[in-house]
Amino acid sequence: MARYRIAWLPGDGIGNDVLKAAKIVLDKMELDAEYVPGDIGWEFWCKEGNALPERTIELLKNTDCALFGAITSKPKEEAEAELDGSMKGKGHVYYSPIVKLRQLFNLRTNLRPCKAYPGNPLNYRDSVDLVVFRENTEDLYAGVEFHPLPAEVMSVLCKHNPRMKKFEKTPLEDIAVSLRVNTRKGCQNIVRDAFEYARKHRRKSVTVVEKPNVIRETSGLMVREARKIAKEYPEIPLWETNIDAMCMWLVKNPEDYDVLVTSNMFGDIVSDLSAQLVGGLGFACSGNIGDDYAVFEPTHGSAPKYAGMNKVNPMATLLSVRLMLDWLGETEKASRLESAVADVIRKGKMRTYDMGGSSTTTQVAEEVARKL
Ligand code: NAI
Ligand code: MG
Repeated sequence: MARYRIAWLPGDGIGNDVLKAAKIVLDKMELDAEYVPGDIGWEFWCKEGNALPERTIELLKNTDCALFGAITSKPKEEAEAELDGSMKGKGHVYYSPIVKLRQLFNLRTNLRPCKAYPGNPLNYRDSVDLVVFRENTEDLYAGVEFHPLPAEVMSVLCKHNPRMKKFEKTPLEDIAVSLRVNTRKGCQNIVRDAFEYARKHRRKSVTVVEKPNVIRETSGLMVREARKIAKEYPEIPLWETNIDAMCMWLVKNPEDYDVLVTSNMFGDIVSDLSAQLVGGLGFACSGNIGDDYAVFEPTHGSAPKYAGMNKVNPMATLLSVRLMLDWLGETEKASRLESAVADVIRKGKMRTYDMGGSSTTTQVAEEVARKL
């Protein structure tokens, strides 16, 4: 029996192209693993009214971790319109399967390293080396939303918070509420993960990115917990920056920052900004990590216009594989893979279209495999 069972979830569009590239590299490294394919994505929404079928959830429960490509996702009404005839009108509601996976398996930490590899013509600056820790299951993305606002909820809110009075006369169908729900445990976990990573990798600082002067309770909770936890890591300074200022500083002086830690939505924003500093979607890798399961994925989507063309950049996926190897404890293979990726970028012989080249997805993956 193989040492690892890895769920293999290409999903939609270029998810298939980039996972083929991942397989080339994993095979070359002879990772002792069995790759178990799973159904996820748009096709299954249309056919079955569920983009993350129950059988896939069962499959994940019987694997060590998953490698995921990308999915196509559409707003509620559009999704309903594309359901197969026999599935229509049965009350199926579209939910993003990746968001569902994060919730179901409590993949509470989203890890997104953004490093400028020397020789990448897309680097904003060669000195950028950021690691974003984004809380992955709470906050504005917890999905606790109301529209129209139930009268009962309106009345409770007005009773408990005088600031709600300003909205009291608004008709209930003219008011939408999305709750930002953050727990002390959620804040502690993400901050601790960031500090542990900083200690292990000898990073110079941890910056908590929030907005506690305005969002006093939720952002406030994160910053207060960060200050407490920072005391256990006296060798690593804790910096505090507001999300808006952070976006400005990341454009002005990205090299000043190191490990960033933040809540779900701010993390979503700041990690896309950070990714663009090091070459954009073709380089943006990520891990969704829980206590006993993890899903690794490039952060880009299914890019339908390039689907099946063997054209897009596989580096984001190969760097996600590297995160997966690290998480599995295969640290030697992980660093070998990162060095091979860095080498191919530095030499610049094989480049996909986004880097100004004309190499195919598989050619780049094969070149990385050759360097291993
Ligand atoms: P996208 O990330 O799929 O692509 C946007 C553009 O970025 C592409 O047209 C392409 O020019 C470029 N791009 C993306 N990946 C690239 C790569 N590996 N190499 C080179 N260039 C690359 O975003 P878009 O077009 O907004 O969304 C397409 C679909 O993907 C939508 O249905 C969206 O909901 C979904 N999506 C899924 C995500 C996921 O699976 N985690 C994340 C983001 C979007
Ligand atoms: Mg995003």
